[in-house]
Amino acid sequence: MEGFTLWFTGLSGSGKSTLAERIKNELLERGMKVELLDGDEFRTTISKGLGFSKEDRDTNIRRIGYVAKLLTRNGVVAITAAISPYRDTRDEQRQKIGRFFEVYTECDLDTLEARDVKGLYKKARAGQIKNFTGVDDPYEPPTSPEVKCNTASESQDVSYERVLAALEARGLIKQGGGDGVDQAAEAAAMRSLKAKGFI
Ligand code: ADX
Repeated sequence: MEGFTLWFTGLSGSGKSTLAERIKNELLERGMKVELLDGDEFRTTISKGLGFSKEDRDTNIRRIGYVAKLLTRNGVVAITAAISPYRDTRDEQRQKIGRFFEVYTECDLDTLEARDVKGLYKKARAGQIKNFTGVDDPYEPPTSPEVKCNTASESQDVSYERVLAALEARGLIKQGGGDGVDQAAEAAAMRSLKAKGFI
């Protein structure tokens, strides 16, 4: 199958990385080549030293987009999970990459602040972190993402199934439940074994 980029976008704590990780594991099990480019991981490696100004965030996103493009054109599924708050910068990656599928993990701020898994919203509210996305820095939601998951109201399982189903419907991955085995090749092998009297 051809490569493509599965681009997650959404606020911190909205479930991008968790969903991305689950989809990655499923596609690996189906025998596909997959790389996960996570925002947090990028920021400790290729984007180390960048901050959270618009300029630095755009630089981070362009780096992630560039690596995703290289992977995509080499038959790999590149899954990205960075906030990627700016619509134009995301759309720029869509144009450059071509085979691009955007998933918006939508979640209201009240829910995110109540969960506050990393404790960062509390710090942002206390003014200990400045320019925190959704608190005192912008987030521009996609206008027409391929899939929108409301991670406040729907379960993680439902979001996961919807993303997979949409990828299948788009023809980017094969129809579900596959175990990576080529069905035609398996049937031919069975016929051959039967013909030789082994089974
Ligand atoms: S992006 O804006 O450049 O796409 P990215 O996804 O790489 O952001 O990094 C976001 C992560 O950095 C958050 O999940 C959070 O853990 C951490 N972080 C630290 N400071 C900020 C901030 N000011 N705004 C958003 N996230 C921040």
